[in-house]
Amino acid sequence: MKIRAERLEDLKEICAVNIAAFEQENEAILVDRLRGIDNTLSFVAEKPEQIVGHIFFSPVTLDGKCPEELMILGLAPLAVLPQYQRRGIGTLLVKHSLEKCTDLGCKAVVVLGSPAYYSRFGFISAKEKGLKCEYQVPDDVFMVLELQNGSLDGCHGTVKYRLEFQECA
Ligand SMILES: CC(C)(COP(=O)(O)OP(=O)(O)OC[C@H]1O[C@@H](n2cnc3c(N)ncnc32)[C@H](O)[C@@H]1OP(=O)(O)O)[C@@H](O)C(=O)NCCC(=O)NCCS
Repeated sequence: MKIRAERLEDLKEICAVNIAAFEQENEAILVDRLRGIDNTLSFVAEKPEQIVGHIFFSPVTLDGKCPEELMILGLAPLAVLPQYQRRGIGTLLVKHSLEKCTDLGCKAVVVLGSPAYYSRFGFISAKEKGLKCEYQVPDDVFMVLELQNGSLDGCHGTVKYRLEFQECA
């Protein structure tokens, strides 16, 4: 299994992976709308001749206070083809791409998802770091990971995803 950055020729397959994993088109449409925006990242998990997983990151803003300008990215969506789930592909995608986020200068990553899944990568409830989600969601499903220890010290406020998220909800 190889994890690599998406290429132009992957777009159809990425779309298909998201539709199959989420059983709807919203996430695939979201990725298509966000692609090309500054500081987005997109990686695929590739078996020979087939893309079986995909992960995407886009910039979020913090409506509140932070001592310095920080790059924070939102992880969404993450998708693995149903017939390839529970084989560690999602884990590979997350671990690989978090390293690339760090390389890009990103200081923290937020995610809306299952605490049971994302806690294994070090994500904790964003509330513990003073961050709220703009959407009405239970505290434990909105999580954050500092990519540099203490990078969120002194920050608090509401995290806002790009408008495309509302348009594709
Ligand atoms: C979530 C998803 C990407 C995980 O990918 P994967 O390749 O199956 O994950 P891995 O094989 O690396 O990890 C499997 C582990 O994750 C757990 N897991 C998988 N999906 C989970 C979920 N939705 N909630 C909680 N745990 C989940 C499994 O129980 C398994 O746990 P174990 O290691 O203790 O046995 C995949 O299940 C998927 O595409 N789901 C549909 C789309 C989705 O919900 N995406 C997440 C949006 S935030």
